[in-house]
Amino acid sequence: MVDTTIRNIKDHVGDEVRLKGWLANKRSSGKILFLQIRDGSGFIQGVVVKQEVSEDTFDSCKSLTQESSIIVTGVVRADKRSHSGYELSVTGIKVVSIAQEYPITKKDHGTDFLMDYRHLWLRSRKQFAILSIRAEITKACRDFLDGRGFTLIESPIITPSTCEGTSDLFEIDYFGRKAYLSQTGQLYAEAAAMAFGKVYTFGPTFRAEKSKTRRHLNEFWMLEPEVAFYNQDDNMKLQEDMIEFAVQKVLENRKYELKLLERDVTGLEKIKAPFPRITYTKAIQMLQEHGDDIKWGDDFGAPHEIYLSEQFEGKPVFVTNYPKKCKAFYMEPDADEPDTVKCDDLLYPGFGEIIGGSERIHDLDLLLSRIKEEKLPQEIYEWYIDLRRYGSVPHSGFGLGIERLVTCVCGIDHLREAIPFARTLNRVTP
Ligand code: 4AD
Ligand code: MG
Repeated sequence: MVDTTIRNIKDHVGDEVRLKGWLANKRSSGKILFLQIRDGSGFIQGVVVKQEVSEDTFDSCKSLTQESSIIVTGVVRADKRSHSGYELSVTGIKVVSIAQEYPITKKDHGTDFLMDYRHLWLRSRKQFAILSIRAEITKACRDFLDGRGFTLIESPIITPSTCEGTSDLFEIDYFGRKAYLSQTGQLYAEAAAMAFGKVYTFGPTFRAEKSKTRRHLNEFWMLEPEVAFYNQDDNMKLQEDMIEFAVQKVLENRKYELKLLERDVTGLEKIKAPFPRITYTKAIQMLQEHGDDIKWGDDFGAPHEIYLSEQFEGKPVFVTNYPKKCKAFYMEPDADEPDTVKCDDLLYPGFGEIIGGSERIHDLDLLLSRIKEEKLPQEIYEWYIDLRRYGSVPHSGFGLGIERLVTCVCGIDHLREAIPFARTLNRVTP
């Protein structure tokens, strides 16, 4: 008898093993019971044959309610028909706790109901698969950056200033003073890049956006690399290499979860660098040729991004050089096209923006004039301006919204399922 997990069950074909988990579901056909068992590492079917087990064991299995916790023993058999590829011939069971009537059943519950029960919904196959893939993506991105000599730097969550615009800040009372929940770790990442060269921040970020779209959360996780001496082109190369690495790691290590999601992986196989690049100006022209009445200077809406993202044979596309007025104060103007800045948005096919990045202004006077132009309070940014006073260098970075990449990789249609406990306009619980 060996203790194991469903994930490792492939190493135990023919052995009697013990699993600790829960009963996800049960079916019975008189003398045979089919137990859907989950243990946090996967799902497996346990078969209980009346003639082959003690009466006690059969009755205990029969009396199990959905989500009862159990310790099961059984013999592992290969079974090509199941997701996991294996099945358990149950030999014994210990009931740890009989669950009360479980609110989530096989019937079709609405998403609102499921979000109210998010603390339980996490146990379902689909949510298990999505959040396991999320963990893989986060690990892959971090491994990628760590492997290239980046240093992880934690940025503060309580901040005195805005970075991405004033309209969507969560204000807090900080001992009688105003402070805000961080919209981005970028400004701190820039300071750290001047100390460590290649850095990234990774943490929760907050936007008080009152929009209710499938692409926005009010709390989301952002990974933000920042590199001294990188220009716009270096920055995009880093982005495409990292996205390719993360997606390919999911394909390699999360086959089982992708199968649970019934994900067609041909789209994911195309996520290979280099990604095509177009300018904003070219993108506007493409949209106009498509019959849209968008004008140069307008920001893109979701439908614009989706259209553009679908024109490049399944590859993500970089849209570069947006008009200065569409973007944040810190972006470096492009000398060749002075109304535009050296930025990029990476649009994922069929979805739209998953990354925003740019070269940062490194000239002291230019930064000061942009802060004035945007009517930002200079005193609060003095520390950030200092970075241009003491050994300023060109530098670039970007922010990847983790939930957006997870949504795209999993092929789901709303960000709220790509984070364990979503915070949206109408929801702060559970
Ligand atoms: O484009 P954004 O606003 O860029 C920044 O915050 C920069 N300071 C990043 C940097 O250069 N270090 O946000 C970056 C990414 C977006 O591309 C998107 O993936 C995600 O963050 N994002 C959101 N994700 C979920 N919900 C929201 N409300 C989001 N807003 C942005
Ligand atoms: Mg953006």
